[in-house]
This record gives sequence, C-alpha cells and structure tokens, in this order.
Amino acid sequence: MVKRKTCVFISGHGSNLKNLINHSRDNNFPIKISLVISNNKKAYGINYAKKYKIPYIFIDTKENNYDNKILLNLKRFNISFICLAGYMKIISSNLIKNYQKKIINIHPSLLPKFKGLNTFSRMLKNKERKAGCTVHYVNEKLDSGSKIIQKSFFVNTKDDELILRKKTQNLEHKAFPEAIIKIFRNF
Ligand code: GRF
Repeated sequence: MVKRKTCVFISGHGSNLKNLINHSRDNNFPIKISLVISNNKKAYGINYAKKYKIPYIFIDTKENNYDNKILLNLKRFNISFICLAGYMKIISSNLIKNYQKKIINIHPSLLPKFKGLNTFSRMLKNKERKAGCTVHYVNEKLDSGSKIIQKSFFVNTKDDELILRKKTQNLEHKAFPEAIIKIFRNF
C-alpha cells in the first residue's frame, strides 16, 4: 500500500502523535508520519518525533510569514495529509485552501457541543450525561467541519476534570486511527 505522507501538528503533550506514530508503523495503516510541526518549542510531543527519527520543525506563529513557512515545509516534504493533534492555533484559510478535505482534527467533546477551549469544565458545569471525542475535517469555522468519527461514554457523578480528560484521551487514541482508516478505506 502507498502510504500518504502526513504531517502532524502539535502544541503540547503529544499523546495522540505518539499513538499515530505507533499505528503508522503497521504496513496496512494508510499514512506515514513524515513531518511534525510544533508551534511550541517546549512541546513534550517533539520527543516522540526525535525518538522515531521523524523530521520536526518549530514554527513561531508570532512571526508575520509563519503561514508561508508552514506551506513551504509541507511542500518540501511532499505532505498530502494533515492531522491536528492538540494544535492550539487556528489554521489559516490559505492552508485550508491548499489542503481541501485533507486536514483533520481531534476534539475532546461530542461536537457540535463544546467547541473551543475548556471543554471539560464547561461539561461539568452543564451536568452533561455524555462526554467523548470527535474527529472531523477542518474548515474555516472553529471545530465545525464535517464529522468522521465520534466516540462517547457516560459521565459518572464522581468524574472530575482530570478523570474526564483521561477517559476522553483513551477514546481519542482509538478514534483518531479509526477515522484515518475510514477516510482511506475507499481510495
Ligand atoms: C486532545 O485532548 C485533543 O482532543 C485536543 O488536545 C488534546 C491533545 O492531547 N485537541 P495530546 O497532546 O495529543 O496528548
């Protein structure tokens, strides 16, 4: 199988990156992680790129031409697919235009509920009965592109933010690879 050259964008811990790297080592998984882009020099996730000898680039999103830098690097590494995995920056419309329907994101809520930040505290405040995660295509509106996969669980009355995050991340580590397999199944 010809694997799609993929770039994973991160800003933080990188547990989803680590999980995708592990899956991509399987010959039948449709993507190869060829590049990691971080907008945070101290992102722990960069260690996974180092460990598995995957090229990684730090992009300073405070620079004016950062978007061009991203695009140039994506072209340089022949990237045809992008996964946002905890990337805390809105993707520019220019990038979206260049990668129509080729950018996906994972979000820690059952979209369209709780778009944006601080999902768990808002869920608890709202006394939500169900929580979960969503993998979706990225379009110009925040957390609003069409859904690929959603996974949910029932919130326990004892669940606090930390427990919700843990339970959600466990589901994310199943949902992200499943979504990628689903996307490329019919190619
Ligand atoms: C995940 O919970 C994801 O849903 C959100 O950011 C978090 C990233 O976690 N977008 P990690 O850096 O992959 O561990």
